[in-house]
Amino acid sequence: MKIVLIGFMGSGKSAVAKALGKKLNLPVVEMDDEIVKIAGKSIPEIFDNDGEIVFREIEMGVAKSLSEKENLIISTGGGVVMNKLNIDYLGKNGVVVYLESAFEEIVKRIGGRDDRPLFKHPDSAKSLYKFRVALYQQYANKIQDTQKKSINKIVEELFVDLKLIS
Ligand code: S3P
Repeated sequence: MKIVLIGFMGSGKSAVAKALGKKLNLPVVEMDDEIVKIAGKSIPEIFDNDGEIVFREIEMGVAKSLSEKENLIISTGGGVVMNKLNIDYLGKNGVVVYLESAFEEIVKRIGGRDDRPLFKHPDSAKSLYKFRVALYQQYANKIQDTQKKSINKIVEELFVDLKLIS
C-alpha cells in the first residue's frame, strides 16, 4: 500500500501522514525533509540561495526515488503538483489523496510563520492557491475534506473511504 497526500501548504498533510503511519504501522516519508537532507540546507535557504527551480529539481528527484517504493505514506510539499511527472512517479501503485481546505482556514493555520517561502504574502499565496486547486482535484484519486475536522476524524474518514482495516 502507498498513500500519497497532496494539498496546499497548511492543509494538514504532515499531521495526517503521521497519524496514518501510526495507525497502519507504515513508515512516513516527508518529501520536504528529504529535500532538506539532499540540499544540506533549509527550505527557505534553498529558495534564497539557489532559487525555486533548484528546489523543484530536487523535489522531482525525490519523487522519482519514491516511485518504486511501496508500503509507505508520503507527505508531499504543496507545489508537487506543479510538475505532472511528480504525480506519475508518486502515484505509481499508490492512491493520491487531496486534503482539501479553504484558503481562509489555511491562513489561520500558517499565517505569520516564516518557514514557507511561497507564503510570505497572503495575496500572492491566494493566487497560487486558486491556480493549484484545479491541479489537486485533477490528480487526486480521492478528495478528503478537512474543514473543521480533527486529525483523528480525517484519518477515520480516510479509513472508511480507502477501505482500510484498522
Ligand atoms: C511549497 C510547499 C512547502 C515546501 C516549499 C514549497 C509549495 O511544503 O515544499 O516551501 O510550493 O507550496 P508544505 O506544503 O509542506 O508547506
